[in-house]
Formats: sequence, C-alpha cells, structure tokens
Amino acid sequence: MSAPLPTPGPSREREGSFDVLIVGSGAAGLTAALNLAGERRVAVLAKGALGGGATEWAQGGIAAVLEEGDSFDAHVADTIEAGAGLNDRAVVEHVVAGAPAAIARLAELGVPFNIDDDGAGWHLTREGGHSHRRIVHVADATGWAIAHALEKAAAAHPNITLLTDRVAIDLATGRHSADFSTSGAVHGLYAFNRQTGSVETLTARATILATGGAGRAYLYSTAPRGATGDGIAMAWRAGCRISNMEFMQFHPTCLYNLTVKNFLITEAVRGEGGLLKHPETGHRFMPDYDARAELAPRDIVARAIDSEIKRDGLDFVHLDISHREPEFVRAHFPTIYDKLLALGIDITRQPIPVVPAQHYTCGGVLVDLDGRTDAPGLYAAGEVTQSGLHGANRLASNSLLECLVFGEAAARHIAAHWDELPQVPAIRAWDESRVTDSDEEVVIQQCWGEIRRFMWNFVGIVRTTKRLERAKHRIDLLRQEVGDYYRNFRVTPDLIELRNLVEVADLTVRSALSRHESRGLHYTLDYPEAAAEAVDTVLVP
Ligand code: FAD
Ligand code: SIN
Repeated sequence: MSAPLPTPGPSREREGSFDVLIVGSGAAGLTAALNLAGERRVAVLAKGALGGGATEWAQGGIAAVLEEGDSFDAHVADTIEAGAGLNDRAVVEHVVAGAPAAIARLAELGVPFNIDDDGAGWHLTREGGHSHRRIVHVADATGWAIAHALEKAAAAHPNITLLTDRVAIDLATGRHSADFSTSGAVHGLYAFNRQTGSVETLTARATILATGGAGRAYLYSTAPRGATGDGIAMAWRAGCRISNMEFMQFHPTCLYNLTVKNFLITEAVRGEGGLLKHPETGHRFMPDYDARAELAPRDIVARAIDSEIKRDGLDFVHLDISHREPEFVRAHFPTIYDKLLALGIDITRQPIPVVPAQHYTCGGVLVDLDGRTDAPGLYAAGEVTQSGLHGANRLASNSLLECLVFGEAAARHIAAHWDELPQVPAIRAWDESRVTDSDEEVVIQQCWGEIRRFMWNFVGIVRTTKRLERAKHRIDLLRQEVGDYYRNFRVTPDLIELRNLVEVADLTVRSALSRHESRGLHYTLDYPEAAAEAVDTVLVP
C-alpha cells in the first residue's frame, strides 16, 4: 500500500485552492491557523466535527513553570527522565521555555484557567513524573475549554475556512501533477467529503499535518474514534521518515466499565492524593514498585497495574480518592464525579475500578524545530509528530504544550519562508473510473477488529519478539487484503482509516522489532535492560 491508489486521473480541474492547508482542528492545527491567518488564506480540515480530536478530551491540563521554586531546568530534567534519555535536549529546552507565553496566549483567547485559592495566580495541580506543581487546568475539562476558545477565534477569522466532514486520503505530491514531477514536494491533498460522498482536490503552497495520534490501532484506548494515524500514514506514503513508533503510551487509569470503554481518569486524581489499591486485599501496591509510588511516570505505574492484574487474574485495580473531602473532590473533578455518579459510582465514597489503556502516540512524522518534515511544502505539529520532545515516554501534560509551541513554530516558518515554498502545479483530479461500490463492507469491520485485538495482545505494555513477529505476520496478510479492497472499491471513511491503521500498525511493529532493549514505554522480556546509548528508531520509506 505504498502507492496512492486508485491513480488520480487526467483532469486538471481545481476544486479548492488556498495558501495553506491544515489537516486537523485540534490544539496544533488551530494554533497554526490563528498564527497564519493574519497574512495567509488558510483552510482547516476536520474529518468530522471541529472538536472531534483528542484536544477536546484532555482533562489534566498543560505543564509550565509558573510556581516559585520551580525552574525551566527542573521541567527539562523531569521531561528527560520520563523520556528515558531519548529526548532531544534542545527541543525540550525550547518547548519548556515557550510554555508560560503559550499559556498566556490561551488565557488571552479566553481560556478560564482555575485560579489559586489565594487568588494570586493560576491553580497548579500535580501529575506523575513532575517534581513540582506545574499543571494549569480548567477543573478536569481543560481540553474542552481550550478547544472552544481556539474554535471560536478561528470561526471568527475571515481568513480561515473551516472544512468539516473532510477525510484527507492522501497528500498530493509532484507525482499527482499533470507533469508528473518527482521533486517530492507536497502541493495539497485529496479529501473525501462526507456530505457529498465525493473526493475533492485541495491545493496549497504549504500543508500542515495536525491529525493527532494513532490510538485506535489498539482495542482499548482513551483516544477518540478518529485517532487512526492518518497523518503518519499519509506522510509515510509521501516519502517522509517516521520515528519512534514503538513508544505507545498506556495511561494507567482508564475507567473499567462494561459499557463506557474509553473514559480517562485523569492523572491529577493521583496528583491530588488518589491511591492505587488491590481490589481484593485493599493493599496500596505502588510503593512496592517505585519510591515515587502513585506519582511515578506513567510507564512505571501502567506496568505495575498490568503486573497486579496478570498475577492475580484481576479485571481491574482500584483508584481511591474517597479519603479527601467530598467538596474538594467535586470541585476539582466535576466531570469525572458526574460521569461516574451516572454509572452508579460515587467517587467521594467509593473507589474507581481502573485499567491501563493506550493513550498517546509518542512516535510519528519526524520534524525539526520549525515543524518541517522531509517533504518540501509539508509541515507537521502535535501528536502526529516525533519532534524530539517526548523521547521514550511522554511526561504528563507536555502534549498540549507541544501542540501550541510547534503549531506556532510551523506557522512562523511558513510565513517567513513563503517565497521559498514550492509553486503549485496543476494537480490531477481523483479518478474513480476503475472502482465500484463495495459489496462487502463486513471485510472492513473484520479487519479493523483484528488489528485492534492483535495490537493489544501482541504489541501492548509488555512485549516479546515472538509476539511482535506474530503481529507482523498478521499485518502482512491484512496489508494484502486491504490493498486489494482499496484498489477495487470506492473509498469510504472507514476504508480510508483502515488502510492507515494497517500502515501505522506495521510501522509500530517494525520499530518495536528493531529495538533490542527496554527503554521507557517499550518493554520487552527478550531485552529487559536499556542499552548504553539512547538512539531514535527512524524508518525510511
Ligand atoms: P487532535 O486534537 O487529536 O486533533 C486531530 C485533528 O485531526 C481532528 O480535528 C481530526 O478530525 C483531524 N484529522 C485526523 N485525521 C484526519 C483526516 N484524515 N482528514 C481530516 N482531518 C483529520 N495532553 C496534555 O498535555 N494534557 C492533558 O491533560 C491531556 N489529557 C488527555 C486526555 C485524553 C482522554 C486524551 C485522549 C489525550 C490527552 N492528552 C493530554 C493528549 C492530548 O490531548 C493530545 O495529544 C493533543 O490534544 C493532540 O492534539 P492535536 O492537535 O495533535 O490532535
Ligand atoms: C491526564 O489528565 O491524566 C492526562 C494528561 C496527559 O495525558 O498529559
């Protein structure tokens, strides 16, 4: 599936031409859009509604050095410790230094961050791996507040066109131009319009991928339905390097519930005193695993829970915050309180059943400090990237921060280097003359289910070479099947996503197989020690 199929046809018709195309309307995409719109005509695509990405779901908050006694050096050190030394120090320093200003800009847009009890500044909560209170938040619904402030500003800007219900299929490169150039430059993309059922050709001098992560490659994930790694797969097919895909982050505390399957219980619950306990004995087990107990970095907490569950055949463990004042719990965690009360759990009196679930994709499209990818004209920002910030494990609440800093950096670079960006040639329109409507939709559902199940079972929290090879074998079969299907049938959103899921599953497994050590989020029983030197995995198309 490395070549975009079916081949675009001969028509030169242009359906939509902009200065800059941004694929994704989360924190990264809208930050980039707002920073460009003063000078350029920008279109922002979302594959469903505007707020369909992970940004809207973020609970905990954004990390920044704002407390007296805290320092940039301490935030940098915590980030690199969580990342098991694989981080790019220059990137970490750049992002950490940019945090206070990025947060101030959100506040200017109207994000109502919680104020401290004495009214002197923002309330800072604490999360695992942070040596200080460092997380600004809007109760436990920070992402919702940020998303709405960004969306409101973008919707009001005359230079921003919001194209919802557009599923980007593939980037348009020189190979899709009438003259078939092999420059490798990106000139826009093809997108399926859910409302008309047709494929549109959108062109621009610069394209920014801000498509979020690939969590839905896993059976259990806190990520939204659309987190299918589309940007990673599209960039790979367009010739960009992909890095560190083996580092899939599992959040330790996802609600265990038979009907609600992907509801996160924010790490801030542990930051404010929540304890992890064995559900049968009531034993608080985290101190047995790490001196930082419940506030150890998430890879350690997730592995500890996994180990308790597997050792004793449990369905879940307990997260208990019922020892804190009910008023405090309700004020700090209103979303969680309401949601769980509706499910029959009063968290001011009862423990919460939790399990680990896939949460964040640390790897992705390789970018530099300006968000540039390997392809001229193509940038990327946010969870879709591997920027060097997170290394082998992301520190809590550093992700929204990365979206803000890199969304702005990509915008600034595009604006400053406008004249050097590739000119847009005539791009051929999408050709559906050789495909028909699918007569076997069931194949898509079957393949989706298979991938998510074997990724969970074979490429999960604890890995072995044998399990990874089993996954690889299945991916090779699926690649063949999905490739045949894609060549013969008209595209649908599910098919577009499935094709991308196969690609990201393959990239993840290949990366995991090539890492002969355990580091951060990649833990394998065959190589339990960390190697002397920390080296990124880089896959070249
Ligand atoms: P997203 O916000 O995921 O947006 C992706 C966008 O891309 C969407 O608009 C989507 O429609 C669009 N898109 C995707 N594919 C296509 C396509 N093919 N065509 C068109 N559009 C497409 N991080 C923190 O720092 N702090 C937190 O407290 C925090 N809490 C979290 C809680 C949860 C439950 C989850 C899941 C994550 C949390 N994270 C948190 C991580 C953080 O929310 C995400 O990493 C971040 O929001 C990603 O933002 P983004 O802009 O890169 O992508
Ligand atoms: C959480 O609130 O626990 C999520 C924070 C994050 O993913 O950074």
